[in-house]
Amino acid sequence: MYTNIKTILTDAAEKNYAVIATSAVNMESARAIITAASEKCAPVIILLGQNMMHNHAKAELIVPLIKTLASYTKIPVAVCLDHGSSTERIMYAIKNGFSSIMYDGSLYDFETNMRKTKHYAEICHALNMGIEGELGHVGQASSGDNLKEDLYTRPEDAREFVKFTGTDCLAVACGTAHGEYPAGFVPQINFDIIKSCKDATNGMPIALHGGSGSGDENILKAVKAGINKINVVTDVFNASRDALKAELDKNPKIGYMDLMARQEEAIQNFIKHWIDLSGSEGRAENFTNPENIFMLGKTQAVGISE
Ligand code: 13P
Repeated sequence: MYTNIKTILTDAAEKNYAVIATSAVNMESARAIITAASEKCAPVIILLGQNMMHNHAKAELIVPLIKTLASYTKIPVAVCLDHGSSTERIMYAIKNGFSSIMYDGSLYDFETNMRKTKHYAEICHALNMGIEGELGHVGQASSGDNLKEDLYTRPEDAREFVKFTGTDCLAVACGTAHGEYPAGFVPQINFDIIKSCKDATNGMPIALHGGSGSGDENILKAVKAGINKINVVTDVFNASRDALKAELDKNPKIGYMDLMARQEEAIQNFIKHWIDLSGSEGRAENFTNPENIFMLGKTQAVGISE
């Protein structure tokens, strides 16, 4: 079933587990992610980044594919724009059937970030879409941003941010960063930031960005501290690439469709492992009777009234 991140993450926050949020760039990866989540009976969120859609698969191609897959499974599946940064891009996502938006105003000052996040939250809610905002800034591992404590979320700001903006989920900066860390490096996550943000916001769903390379132990502890959405992208792309390489090394003449099938298996195994870490296995059972505008096939238009 196709739904939004609010529906998925409200349940996760109430029951103290996390949901895997990862990217699909083609049919094989979308099918592998949704199949793995279905087999684990776990909700799942598919992240589509702006650059990914610009450089590889446009929303016009990938969103209908994901929605078709979602219509064949009872697990909740959401499509979320990742790090939306402008009205143009957010409208592009809305026009193309996304169920959710992550608006990233984290490089603005606090007041501007709050004002812009509130603006997009109002639009999303009028469309029955979910929205995530970011407070503090999760930067790039290649720039060492994970070590810059001045970028971390200040829990004392979290309550006002959430109350003012009406966001459905809060992304926090607490020691991780996007992309690949230097070889052998494992980030030190500040779990107190997660716990304090959770307390300050009365249990708001909290997102961890830059999940790749964090290590299983950190992820388990982060979920325990209150994380409800785990973004992991680089590692799933790398698992996919490594599977292709391993298969081709083993059998350079392998049939193309067999090669694609091996890749899908590798993605499925990867996703299942992260679902194990997140505590989301079996949780799709909670969503048996959804009153869901996307599932009912109504148009997403402002002003729908019953
Ligand atoms: P990684 O690619 O480091 O896992 O980060 C993903 C992410 O946070 C997307 O928003």
